[in-house]
Amino acid sequence: MTISAVAQLEPLPLQHLRRGKVREVYIIDDDRLLLVATDRVSAFDVVMHEAIPYKGAVLTQITAWWLRQLEKDVHHHMISADADEIVAAVPSLAAHRATLAGRAMLCKRTNVFPVECVIRGYLSGSAWKEYRSSGTLAGESLAPDLRESERFDPPLFSPATKAETGHDENITLARTAEIVGPQIAAELERLSRLVYTRGRDIAAERGIIIADTKFEFGRDGEDRITLIDEVLTPDSSRFWPAEHYQPGRSQPSFDKQPLRDYLDGERKAGRWNGEAPPPVLPEHVVKATSARYLDAFRRITGSELNLTELS
Ligand SMILES: Nc1ncnc2c1ncn2[C@@H]1O[C@H](COP(=O)(O)OP(=O)(O)OP(=O)(O)O)[C@@H](O)[C@H]1O
Ligand SMILES: [Mg+2]
Repeated sequence: MTISAVAQLEPLPLQHLRRGKVREVYIIDDDRLLLVATDRVSAFDVVMHEAIPYKGAVLTQITAWWLRQLEKDVHHHMISADADEIVAAVPSLAAHRATLAGRAMLCKRTNVFPVECVIRGYLSGSAWKEYRSSGTLAGESLAPDLRESERFDPPLFSPATKAETGHDENITLARTAEIVGPQIAAELERLSRLVYTRGRDIAAERGIIIADTKFEFGRDGEDRITLIDEVLTPDSSRFWPAEHYQPGRSQPSFDKQPLRDYLDGERKAGRWNGEAPPPVLPEHVVKATSARYLDAFRRITGSELNLTELS
């Protein structure tokens, strides 16, 4: 079976709102958005030329799966992640059903709270960097002598501001309360902890450590705090293979390790300087990465991604 991975979506008859590294956001009307995950992949903050077969569908359908699990715990933005239902709701998309299959989510449009709700179950990434240099996270002290990748119990809520360019900036809980108000800040923390803990426990039973993740919330038309964006996907989270977990060092990435290893090799060989444009990826790297994403879907949801629909 030949699969065409999609880096660039065909034009859709909708108003385009924004292009992310991976996703395209379209406006349907005042109340609804269409989020479409392409198969683009980034590593070390650089978007690759090649697209990864099935990656967009994996991201969208993992989010959809989690949102269905979380229905009782939190209001969420999903209306549908099924292409037939989306086309029925938005008939102008009928000619684009194949493009949207698996990768599109019709969502309630919300007013987004300008805070990235980062929650960390393990000490890694930018948190490890700050801790190593100053013993703190977002300026607040942590226990001494923590090792890299050490598990936190309870998890740490460490919000950040959404930066338009460059890296998001970690902010204190006090600063979060100033931005959204103390009651909303407390609710965002409660919901982030609840959703992360659910996700971490389910994934752990299935061999994946969700080391940390980022949630976004918005206020819907009925004034309810609503979980939006992508949820507990490999792109919004650090997924680690549980069988290789060992504190005291950085961990391999469940999904992107074949890609990272290749890029590291190119860097060490002096063929890539770590910035855009990235090197051309050999097919075996693209295939191995695609297989990792499909495996993440399979392990988390317990079923196969419906591939026949997507090719
Ligand atoms: N229900 C919603 N209502 C309003 N905005 C939403 C909703 N769901 C998601 N969004 C917004 O859609 C945007 C998705 O674009 P984003 O730039 O994050 O794409 P991305 O491909 O994830 O890129 P990056 O990798 O750079 O984060 C975000 O700004 C997010 O706040
Ligand atoms: Mg994003």
